[in-house]
Amino acid sequence: SPYFAYRDGVLHAESVSVADLAERLGTPLYIYSRAALHAAYGAYRDAIGSHDVLVCYGMKANSNLAVLREFAKMGAGFDIVSAGELQRVLAVGGDPSKVVFSGVGKQASEMRLALEVGVKCFNVESIPELHRLSAVAASMGKRAPVSLRVNPDVDPKTHPYISTGLKENKFGIAIEQALDAYRNAASLPGIKVVGLDCHIGSQITEASPFLDALDKLLDLLDLLAAHDIHIDHLDLGGGLGIRYSDETLLSPTTLLNAVFERLLARGYGDRQIVLEPGRSLAGNAGILVTRVEYLKHTDSKLFLIVDAAMNDLVRPTLYDAYHGVLPVVPRTDVVTRNYDVVGPICESGDWLARNRDLAVAEGDLLAFESAGAYGMVMASNYNTRPRAAEVMVDGANFHVVRSRETVAQLLALESTLG
Ligand code: LLP
Repeated sequence: SPYFAYRDGVLHAESVSVADLAERLGTPLYIYSRAALHAAYGAYRDAIGSHDVLVCYGMKANSNLAVLREFAKMGAGFDIVSAGELQRVLAVGGDPSKVVFSGVGKQASEMRLALEVGVKCFNVESIPELHRLSAVAASMGKRAPVSLRVNPDVDPKTHPYISTGLKENKFGIAIEQALDAYRNAASLPGIKVVGLDCHIGSQITEASPFLDALDKLLDLLDLLAAHDIHIDHLDLGGGLGIRYSDETLLSPTTLLNAVFERLLARGYGDRQIVLEPGRSLAGNAGILVTRVEYLKHTDSKLFLIVDAAMNDLVRPTLYDAYHGVLPVVPRTDVVTRNYDVVGPICESGDWLARNRDLAVAEGDLLAFESAGAYGMVMASNYNTRPRAAEVMVDGANFHVVRSRETVAQLLALESTLG
């Protein structure tokens, strides 16, 4: 990527040496590129042109305040799934009227906060949720703006853990039941129907699953219109994939051109489109830097034991995900060998990369690529490991955007019986 590239034999983030950052701030260290975030958002802006499209950043991918602030400044809205995420949006001065609230388990207190600040829409995922939301809104003398998240039963052809639009998933309302659900919604005192929503999965690299889902949604819109139920916006969720290794990519332009064409052909060219991209905005804007602690040779394998672990980056072990590994300062004075890169945690599942040809020595720095999305946000404190620091590079400058946790901070919330 142009944002993480070698200069004079050292990996740089924009114009800052990754080796210098690791030296100053320690490892493991998440490094983000501000320019990469802007470029990723720019790809959506270019794809949108003069169409009415609201990009609501799927902030679960990376909710660091500095990241959110950049997207807020660029005019993005946010797709949230908790009151905590809403408070992050408010903390960076994000516009609540550009927030959509997704998730299958919204609590009454979360609904209340979202209604108080005036979110754009609740993406409602079940009938019981609809009734709770109506009651909460009515008790506040309000009507909650609602989209129903329908489950179009399409296969996004991605990892089963990140497929969400198949009928066996917990998400959304089965599309066959959507008409009844909308009629129910329209009859409730605390609900105002404003949209239709779906999200079929993540790391999708082909247009066809999106377009199959869209066709089903448009059929539903026809049916709803016949029952005098009209919607203002169509939310197609997130899900565009990024390149981790050699994936062919679906660009926002390719996808949106096909979407606009379909909408026009079906007489819905005037509807606002909402998108909820997460990974495709943040994923390739971040790396995770780690230091090699030991080279360990066993009879069957060579291991590189590094100071990052599954608690820092869980995607490899959780999804069998591939992240590229780059030496921060490539060397030619040691032989290239085939390694499994593993962390210090007491689990066989604590691996970050497998079967990688690397020329490294103890003390070297390695960078895991494409770690900007679903990296730090999924980190834990397993094995009482303080979470990594996060730094954002901006040209030749850097800003620590989250300090490294200390063990004292980890212990502070706990107490003993005396
Ligand atoms: N909207 C909804 C309702 C979602 O559930 C998600 C992601 C998104 C938007 C954003 O999707 P994206 O554009 O990032 O694909 N931890 C997994 C990914 C889980 C995705 C969950 N939902 C991973 O590391 O691959």
